[in-house]
Amino acid sequence: MDAPIRPELVDFHGISMTKIFTENWENIQNFQARPDDILIATYAKAGTTWVSQILDLLYFGQTERHKTLPIYERVPFLELHIPSYMSGTEQADNLPTSPRLIKTHLPYQLVPKSFWEQNCRVVYVARNAKDNMVSYYHFNRMNQGQPAAGDWNSFFQKFMEGKMVFGPWYNHVNGWWKKKQTYPKIHYMFYEDMIEDTGREIDKLCSFLGLSPSAEEKRMVVGGTQFDNMKKNEMANYSTIPMMDFKISPFMRKGKVGDWKNHFTVAQNEEFDEDYKQKMKDPTLQFRTTI
Ligand code: PPS
Repeated sequence: MDAPIRPELVDFHGISMTKIFTENWENIQNFQARPDDILIATYAKAGTTWVSQILDLLYFGQTERHKTLPIYERVPFLELHIPSYMSGTEQADNLPTSPRLIKTHLPYQLVPKSFWEQNCRVVYVARNAKDNMVSYYHFNRMNQGQPAAGDWNSFFQKFMEGKMVFGPWYNHVNGWWKKKQTYPKIHYMFYEDMIEDTGREIDKLCSFLGLSPSAEEKRMVVGGTQFDNMKKNEMANYSTIPMMDFKISPFMRKGKVGDWKNHFTVAQNEEFDEDYKQKMKDPTLQFRTTI
C-alpha cells in the first residue's frame, strides 16, 4: 500500500501552517465569539486535551454528552477544516452548550478579534519546550494529517527553527505571555504544575472562572482527568480518529515531565540550551524541564 501523502508547510502571515488550518480563514477571522465563550489556547501538544476535559467536567459533569461525544466534538477545534467534515467554526456555531469551550492552537495575533472584543476568558496552557518537542515528534509520526516527522535529529532542528505547524514554540508561549499583560482575562497555566498538583491547579482555574465545585465534584474532575483514566476513555483518547495510527504511537503517550531525557543526546541538549537562552530573554517566563 502507498504511504499516505503528508501535507506540506505553507507560510501563512509569517507562521508555518498546513492547509487544513488556513483554508477556512475567512470564516475563522469573522467568527462571532460570545461573551461567555472560553477559549482554550495552547501550542500543540502542551496539554490541550487534558485541560479541555477538565473544563468540560467542571462545567457539565459526567452527563450523557460527556459519555457519548468525543472531546473534539465537545470542544471544537476552531481553525480545523477537513474538507467534507464540519469545520471547527461550524461546530462551534452549532454547540448547544453554555458556555462554549473552544480550542485553538493559533498564536495570539491570529485569534479572531471577536474573542477580544467580547472580553472572553482564555485558558492558555504552556509546556516546557523539550517535552513539548518530544510529544510533537511522536504526534507527527502517528498522525497522517501532519507533516512527516522525519527522523529525530531532523525534527529536533526543525523545532528549533520554528518549522512546525503553528510556528515557533518560542514565539507562541512568549506572545501569549505578553498578551496577558494587556488582556488580563488570560489564565496562563503550565503543564508541569498540573502534573505536580492537579488539584491545586484546578483550584486556581476555578478561581479564574468564578466556579466553586463541591469537594465531591472536584474529586470527580481530578479522577476523571488522570492520565490513565483519560487514556482508557474512548471519548477522550482520540482513538476514534482514523488518521491517527496508534500502532506507531498512541495519542495519550506518556503524560510525563522529563521524557525529553530519553530523546535528547548530550550534544543536542547543549545545543538546545544555548539556542534557548538567545530566544527566551524574558526572565518572568520560566519553565521547568523536570519536577
Ligand atoms: S493536541 O493534539 O495538541 O491537542 O495535543 P495535547 O492534548 O495538547 O497534548 C497531548 C499531550 O498531553 C498528554 N496528556 C496528558 N498528560 C497528563 N495527564 C493527562 N490527563 C493528559 N492528557 C493528555 C498526552 O499524553 C500528550 O503528551 P505526551 O508527552 O506525548 O504523552
